[in-house]
Amino acid sequence: MVAFAASTPVGVRALSGTAVTCRAPTARPTVAAAAPMRMAAADGEMVPDMNKRNLMNLLLTGAAGSVALGALGPYAYFFVPESGGGSGGGVGAKDAAGNAIKESGWLAAHPTDSRELVLGLKAEATWLIVEDKKIAPFAINAVCTHLGCVVPWVPAENKFKCPCHGSQYDKQGKVIRGPAPLSLALEHVNVDGDGNVVLSSWKEEDFRTGEAPWWNF
Ligand code: FES
Repeated sequence: MVAFAASTPVGVRALSGTAVTCRAPTARPTVAAAAPMRMAAADGEMVPDMNKRNLMNLLLTGAAGSVALGALGPYAYFFVPESGGGSGGGVGAKDAAGNAIKESGWLAAHPTDSRELVLGLKAEATWLIVEDKKIAPFAINAVCTHLGCVVPWVPAENKFKCPCHGSQYDKQGKVIRGPAPLSLALEHVNVDGDGNVVLSSWKEEDFRTGEAPWWNF
């Protein structure tokens, strides 16, 4: 029926569904081997019924899926964006070069009463403070509450002064002159078991004003 069937392997024909009639008997060594299976199937002993086969397929598919998820899980982790903080254990502070900040190294390089910008929550510029030869338990988000300029620290005046429209904040970030309407946001600062400086959300009362925090990160 089909001209090229004589040279087409059995498996290929079976997949294509093409009827084939002219293959030489010597090229079919599997026919004899398959005969007992057909006989057994006719007896209903060797081949499971459809329900059993479906159940076995389901179990095998489930097992294979579990193995695949287990193997792919660690790789998938790398495609999940790092949390910006705000709901859990916080994020490690990073210096201007993007390196994790270690408490010991930071204190060795920064004198007391110093303030330096680091990468804080939401990847925003944040002032990390050293007081009494320790890293202060709070950091100050450097984004001006007026229109969002990064507010520099002016050590000679012991205050933060925004270069954009003149707002000023005291050394703890409390607004002391407008047009900024609010104090700079706070972040918690902790040190984890490996000595890394970790920042997390400040959701408690603002100790500078006695009010609830206006920020939401
Ligand atoms: S953005 Fe800081 S005073 Fe306007």
